[in-house]
Amino acid sequence: MGNKVREEIEGLNKYIGGKPISEVKREFNIDKVVKMASNENPLGCSDSVKDVLKNLVDNTALYPDGDNYYLRKSLSQFIGIDEENIILGAGSSSLIKVICNTLINKGEESIMGEITFVLYETFTKLMGGKAIKVPMKDLALDLDSILDSINERTKIIWLCNPNNPTGTAFTTKELEEFLEKVPKNVYVVIDEAYKEYVSMENYPDSLSLLKNYKNIIILRTFSKAYGLASLRVGYGICDEELAEYFNRVLNPFEVSLYAQNAAVEAIKDKEFVEYCYDYNKKQREFFYKAFKKLNLDYKESQSNFILVDVKGEDREINDYLLKNGYIIRPGYLLGCSGYLRISVGLEEDNKKLIELLNKYFREK
Ligand SMILES: Cc1ncc(COP(=O)(O)O)c(C=O)c1O
Repeated sequence: MGNKVREEIEGLNKYIGGKPISEVKREFNIDKVVKMASNENPLGCSDSVKDVLKNLVDNTALYPDGDNYYLRKSLSQFIGIDEENIILGAGSSSLIKVICNTLINKGEESIMGEITFVLYETFTKLMGGKAIKVPMKDLALDLDSILDSINERTKIIWLCNPNNPTGTAFTTKELEEFLEKVPKNVYVVIDEAYKEYVSMENYPDSLSLLKNYKNIIILRTFSKAYGLASLRVGYGICDEELAEYFNRVLNPFEVSLYAQNAAVEAIKDKEFVEYCYDYNKKQREFFYKAFKKLNLDYKESQSNFILVDVKGEDREINDYLLKNGYIIRPGYLLGCSGYLRISVGLEEDNKKLIELLNKYFREK
């Protein structure tokens, strides 16, 4: 092609998500395929959300409310933060992009863990920024080394808490000590996509820090515990002035009619989210026990996925599981070769997956 794309785009890779179920069915000619690759909610979403969605079809021809009036109000009440401090996007992925679009000048740096959510790097580079990847400490974000990496070019620090794909999380004390040392002109994004699954004590109440730290941006999503991944809706909480800038960059009508209404309803059904939390916690324990029996090291997870060390065989095991109808994420696609990231699924699927792993190691 004669016309060249921007040099930043030449250096990017396409985001590779977990394989879709339909593709694996076609490829291997199998009927039952289970996806445990993208940390979605195996329990679906609240029944009341489904009812709301059914009643919206007649409004499909109209644009949704560009100000997200009702969702903004519900969220504001739900989290106890003023409406002006909330931004809404088509998933928190979109907000990660908007943050980079708004803040990163060419040559500026953003700092992240070496093994973390890939879009921080992608969208930093999109803007001509440089992604500084800090080595992990026992698979967790190393906050001290992140601090040591700050320089005059640093614009954003990305803290994924719990961290995808390692499942680790840091505490209130660790976060506060960290924020005290970060220069005020550096933004700290705290991505809490999996917060609803956290079971540890001392997980930071990041919202309470907003008053003292105007440089933090908190990201959350309805894609995980609320089970609305296909609808694409996430939100951010930050300083009001900053939110106003982000709103200039966001696409008009970002959040669809379906997504807005589903999210309003999902917030109301606290029982559903509690049920998902309990279910996930129990299934995590099931996996821990099973991995111990298989002699596989794993990282205790605060999330709805577990990173397990399969001794360098992530590619082989991934292929083997795919053929048997199980989609997981091999570590080589996530910057941690030799590991598998398994999203916690339904009880029967988790059992079946462990049976398959048993068989794999027995027959090896
Ligand atoms: C850490 C983290 N942040 C953000 C996202 C984006 O989620 P969504 O765009 O569906 O809100 C994901 C998705 O997997 C994630 O793992």
